[in-house]
Amino acid sequence: MNVLVVGGAGYIGSHMVKYLGNQGCSVTVLDNLSSGHRDAVLCGELLVGDLADCDFLDQVFEKQSFDVVMHFASSIMVGESVVKPSLYYRNNVTHTQNLLDAMVKYDVQHFIFSSTAAIFGEPEYTPIDELHPKCPMNPYGRSKWMVEQILEDYDRAYGLKSICLRYFNAAGADPECELGERHDPETHLIPLVLQAASGKRDAITVFGRDYDTEDGTCIRDYIHVNDLCSAHWLAIQSLKSRGESQRFNLGNGNGFSVQQLIDVCREVTGKDIQVIDGERREGDPAALVADASRAQLELGWTPKFDDLSAIVSHAWAWESKDCGHVG
Ligand code: UFG
Repeated sequence: MNVLVVGGAGYIGSHMVKYLGNQGCSVTVLDNLSSGHRDAVLCGELLVGDLADCDFLDQVFEKQSFDVVMHFASSIMVGESVVKPSLYYRNNVTHTQNLLDAMVKYDVQHFIFSSTAAIFGEPEYTPIDELHPKCPMNPYGRSKWMVEQILEDYDRAYGLKSICLRYFNAAGADPECELGERHDPETHLIPLVLQAASGKRDAITVFGRDYDTEDGTCIRDYIHVNDLCSAHWLAIQSLKSRGESQRFNLGNGNGFSVQQLIDVCREVTGKDIQVIDGERREGDPAALVADASRAQLELGWTPKFDDLSAIVSHAWAWESKDCGHVG
């Protein structure tokens, strides 16, 4: 099977490329390396280019035919999206449309899209299932929801079949420690807490202790990056066998507070992690927990790493490995 992985040099995309390689797929990676890393592409061919460049896309699709396209490339920082909406709508919507138009032009019919829990906004109920109202609170969430709606129209008009996978909090690292999270700047909780454990940072700031949760800190549903990969793999099988567009929420269904997460990091690392109590971060919902039963039922997906300690252990192994932080 020929798979085009757009954004395959980034955090989740690079894990997916390794996963597809292990399944015997022929993988082509398209990445502009704006935030991805060349050395994170462990198999397949890397084409360096940008979705803004429609001539480049023509060359990619003319040279090879693909059974499925997976799209991981996007701008992902919620706070940045509020101050730079133009960047987010261009990168996440306009450029995605270039990719979709190339697929229609070259008759590639299967698409898997990296969506997000941010499309739901402030939860009206929890755990959040697929039917939950979509009220994104920032340009990042809105850009992803726009693409989901565009995909419905492209299915109706052009027969392009898509699966949108709405990640809750992607976390952890390759259990073989070849890949991990390498964002610059890093904004995600687990790598920041682990950098406080390793001494790369002095402390972790907890954004708010006055939420309506048991210990006052925000609750999130952390899902191992490899479990996200297995869901993508099952999504490919579903597109091939059923040929239907579908949407799935992906999480473990277990919520952990920021304080609980810090406590697990202390246990796993054996380090004393300094904590500073800070103000709430704008736009953070108190609790985001997935109801992933549709993915379990319809895709046959079972997360393997439902234990937060295992997720943190893999992230810690990666954080502790020096080579994870060069280039
Ligand atoms: N947090 C801190 N201190 C930090 C960083 C984060 O207390 O230094 C807290 C946040 O306030 C939040 C939790 O840790 O409550 C998790 O924050 P992350 O930044 O790791 O993740 P988010 O939940 O904000 O974001 C994730 C994805 C986004 C997606 C969003 C959906 O990374 O892509 O979920 O709301 F949009």
